[in-house]
Amino acid sequence: MQFPNLFSPITINGMTVKNRAVMPPMGTGYGNADSTVSDRLLAYLSRRAQGGTGLIITEISAVVPRGKGFPNQIGVWNDEFIPGLARIPEALHRHGAKVALQLHHAGRETFETAAGAMPEAPSAIPSVILGQPCEAMSEERIAEVIHAFARAADRARQAGFDAVELHGAHGYLLNQFLSPFSNKREDQYGGSDENRMRFILEIIAAVRKIVGRDFPVWIRVSADELVRGGYDLSFMQKFAPRLVTAGIDAIHCSVGVYSTPGNLAIASMDTDPGFNLFRARALKDVVNVPVIGVGRINNPELADQAIARGDADLISFGRQHLTDPDFINKARTGAFDDIRWCTACNQGCIERLSFEMKSATCSFNPECGREYKGPAPKADPSKRVWVIGAGPAGLSAAMAAVARGHKVEIFERETQPGGQLLSASRPPHKAVFMDWVAWSLQRLKKASVPVNSGHTVSAEEIKQQRPDAVIVACGAYPVAVPIPGLDSKIVADARDVLTGKVDAKGPAVILGAGYVGMETADYLLARGIAVTVLEMQAFPPVGKFTAHGYWLHKRIKDAGGILHFGARVLRIEDGAVRYHQMDTEKVEKAATVITAMGAKSENDLEGVLKELAIPYRIAGDAKSPRRILEAIHEGHKAGEEI
Ligand SMILES: Cc1cc2nc3c(=O)[nH]c(=O)nc-3n(C[C@H](O)[C@H](O)[C@H](O)COP(=O)(O)OP(=O)(O)OC[C@H]3O[C@@H](n4cnc5c(N)ncnc54)[C@H](O)[C@@H]3O)c2cc1C
Ligand SMILES: Cc1cc2nc3c(=O)[nH]c(=O)nc-3n(C[C@H](O)[C@H](O)[C@H](O)COP(=O)(O)O)c2cc1C
Ligand code: SF4
Repeated sequence: MQFPNLFSPITINGMTVKNRAVMPPMGTGYGNADSTVSDRLLAYLSRRAQGGTGLIITEISAVVPRGKGFPNQIGVWNDEFIPGLARIPEALHRHGAKVALQLHHAGRETFETAAGAMPEAPSAIPSVILGQPCEAMSEERIAEVIHAFARAADRARQAGFDAVELHGAHGYLLNQFLSPFSNKREDQYGGSDENRMRFILEIIAAVRKIVGRDFPVWIRVSADELVRGGYDLSFMQKFAPRLVTAGIDAIHCSVGVYSTPGNLAIASMDTDPGFNLFRARALKDVVNVPVIGVGRINNPELADQAIARGDADLISFGRQHLTDPDFINKARTGAFDDIRWCTACNQGCIERLSFEMKSATCSFNPECGREYKGPAPKADPSKRVWVIGAGPAGLSAAMAAVARGHKVEIFERETQPGGQLLSASRPPHKAVFMDWVAWSLQRLKKASVPVNSGHTVSAEEIKQQRPDAVIVACGAYPVAVPIPGLDSKIVADARDVLTGKVDAKGPAVILGAGYVGMETADYLLARGIAVTVLEMQAFPPVGKFTAHGYWLHKRIKDAGGILHFGARVLRIEDGAVRYHQMDTEKVEKAATVITAMGAKSENDLEGVLKELAIPYRIAGDAKSPRRILEAIHEGHKAGEEI
């Protein structure tokens, strides 16, 4: 056994979990509109249990309608939910997993549209991030919500769950009561540490009273809020023993609230793996119940070491469960190299859920959230399918097409597969993107799919060879707005700088402050090259509200990079860029000028495919330049449909 600590059982108040791997709660948006459990949610959860994880904690479930965080969040606020909820433990137990329901009230961190009324909170202070006005809860209402938590825990028990987790973290209602940042009450629920602890301690007492001493109940906390005016780790070290005395059987140690800079609760690739384990350790030092560690841990090896060191007793792997539902079984059976790694990009999961108001998925796993549909039917007849382009769309399409039984061949113009990921993986913290390319190539090799690199497919070749079907995954090429001097020797494209085709010299001036321009700045600054970025828009196109955007801005600022907004470039001169900003003409010295001004789809081959009536699909940037998520998901769909 390679990871003996991770794969040893543990017992929490009579509930024996087969290993130390936990899937922490992750809101999906897969629930039905009436907050009941859907077939989609059930299939998604079952798939994770099938992958070998010992303990699965379901996503936030609302104890009162007014506590809902998003419209189709699952609910547990009346007895009618029990039969639907019961389907979850019934399905997950078949795979040997234990299952807990996470009980939740969003407090002020929601919108009126989701809560169905003005959100309620300890004090009428709107969320710093959402800005939605809220109402301070009366003592009568507090009593009602405490009762609702207790009743919800009992419903979970009746539905067959093995345990419940109280959501006391991430700036939601329980956390709001605990924190001097959000609780400004002057009654018995605010004003002092003791009073701010009262709400949570009363919930635990009420839950215990109704479910009894033998039913496992634990709490998820943010060990440190990491906001000015909030509580810190030393406070949580005082509070944790009180939680245990009140009847808590374990502590799930998360970190951060909504306004924590850089969203450390769901840390991006910019944060080190296992960055939060020291806080789990600090809580373990003061309590005698199991502590669950979490925070950018996707590697079973790191988890095994953390348990061996005594940092935590169990380890939550969040997003890794979305990217590869089988990674625990793969780690257990020695198929470690077959694991598809979560990149912590956040784009397909939390940012899609929070900023795009769409259900969560994973950029790198097109099947996440589609488990209920089952695999695509086998191809009949099996066709000779050409995939043109070995970027994310092409590789994903080829994997889906070969899984259906087609005879697939990939063609790639460059000498190496990967498409734009070859440059996208070069800026700091992004090397992990190439892991997906390596993973895909390994799978394609196993399926005997030839990847012909250094081979540009032309219309002529298609006419001669006449494949049965084609997937056009040719991506997009960089474009720049016409500026006098763009043909100068000092001008290079960002992709060429990142891949090392062009050796950029300082000072460098980058034209465009989108992700490509900003990441190129980050890359050059990390190499000690002075950078100025000129952006035509008046405001930064890369927002600081995403975790990666926040860290990108911070690193560039800390390294002395300069960003000019509202800057219209007039021309590139010998060793300088002349631009116009705020009614003034300015000059910026430049040894290298780097263009990062967008891209245009490459789909020239569509014409010949139409002419020859060869069935085809276009996927990814070749359709329109977007992101990895669209490329991989559209590629997969194309492979399933062709
Ligand atoms: C610096 C940089 C950073 C980025 N960072 C991110 C990020 O963090 N997150 C994100 O979501 N997206 C990011 N992107 C965008 C992302 O990489 C693209 O959206 C994605 O790669 C598109 O995938 P694709 O397969 O459609 O196209 P591509 O990746 O462009 O691949 C197309 C491939 O087709 C080949 N090809 C074209 N024509 C032919 C032909 N006739 N014959 C043979 N081969 C051909 C090309 O050589 C290329 O390799 C970034 C892009 C860049 C440049
Ligand atoms: C899409 C998504 C939804 C989440 N929803 C919840 C939730 O419902 N309850 C909760 O306590 N944490 C939630 N989290 C936080 C995760 O449980 C976990 O703590 C976080 O992703 C960090 O772990 P990781 O780095 O292993 O992904 C969510 C995270 C993601 C990515
Ligand atoms: S979308 Fe990105 S962060 Fe989210 S699970 Fe997938 S790889 Fe991980």
